[in-house]
Amino acid sequence: MERILVCGGAGYIGSHMVKRLLNEGFDVTVFDSFETGHREALQEGAAVFEGTLNNPADVNGVLEMKPFDAVFHFAARIQVGESVRQPSLYYGNNVAGTLNLLQAMVARGIGRFVFSSSAAVYGTPLEIPIREDHPLVPINPYGWTKQMVEQILADFWRAYGLASVSLRYFNACGADPEGSIGESHDPETHLIPNILKSALSNSSEPVLIFGDDYPTPDGTCVRDYVHVCDLADAHLKALDSLRASPGVRAYNLGNGCGFSVKQVLEAAERVLGAKIERRIASRREGDPAFLVADSTLALKELGWRPRFTSLEEILQTALRWHRCPRY
Ligand SMILES: NC(=O)c1ccc[n+]([C@@H]2O[C@H](COP(=O)([O-])OP(=O)(O)OC[C@H]3O[C@@H](n4cnc5c(N)ncnc54)[C@H](O)[C@@H]3O)[C@@H](O)[C@H]2O)c1
Repeated sequence: MERILVCGGAGYIGSHMVKRLLNEGFDVTVFDSFETGHREALQEGAAVFEGTLNNPADVNGVLEMKPFDAVFHFAARIQVGESVRQPSLYYGNNVAGTLNLLQAMVARGIGRFVFSSSAAVYGTPLEIPIREDHPLVPINPYGWTKQMVEQILADFWRAYGLASVSLRYFNACGADPEGSIGESHDPETHLIPNILKSALSNSSEPVLIFGDDYPTPDGTCVRDYVHVCDLADAHLKALDSLRASPGVRAYNLGNGCGFSVKQVLEAAERVLGAKIERRIASRREGDPAFLVADSTLALKELGWRPRFTSLEEILQTALRWHRCPRY
């Protein structure tokens, strides 16, 4: 039975990964500081080590537990605005913390690593859809932390033979169709949970649309929504590819289809069967008009194809969670 360490396994995407790994019969250990993760998201059957990547003793402690075959690394700070205000926190956690992990892996000869990167590495896109060979020019510290880790991974492959796949997620969304785990960030900056939370709470607060004068068909920003279960699937395929052909690679993960903020709102209204109040607010700094992935490389080299491609399906799974969230 392969032993997988999941860093950040108590978070949104990490917990879905843990559930999938357990279902597939892997031996799973979660490493998490619970800074933004949830104890309630932990899955029965996974071992748990509480600690922070920032403390090398914690990292060594978890790696001493068993001879891991691979590490899936989801643990990071993820708020773009916070990264602008507190870059030290982001470089410390996302870059220095990851370096601690990679150094400890090299010291123990653990040679497979799957990294949660982000579309934020591209900054403001020059071309849509975005391919992996688009220049990496992030526009905020969060994006730079992802770019820097990708650079470290390239160098660690050449120098130490640490094989890795970086998965550049676009907008992660949706929830486990069984409804036991889902998205819960504080503060929540993602569109779908904010729409559903606002609609379900019957709050008089309208959903804010940040700008309706973008050069897009309906004037609102277009994003590529990729389901969290499809992301988990891509990780398993990345692991297969590392076994078959070690190296250092990066893949976009998106469903290749852009949806505007207004389209997401309209789909949510159809799924809820109710009108959702909205208000136009001013644009947010650094929001590109379009962010849509070309995921052809992942299809070609990993054999990955997203299963959740319709907004309604994605929203149904998210809604199931938001109707009855456990954390
Ligand atoms: N959510 C998205 O749309 C999205 C998009 C692109 C990339 N990503 C990346 O995917 C990964 C997971 O995102 P998420 O939405 O699940 O975030 P999340 O905040 O829900 O989960 C992150 C987890 O990592 C843990 N963690 C953070 N710093 C840690 C540290 N120093 N030591 C140990 N544990 C630590 C947190 O407690 C939490 O459980 C992140 O790396 C993020 O940058 C997410």
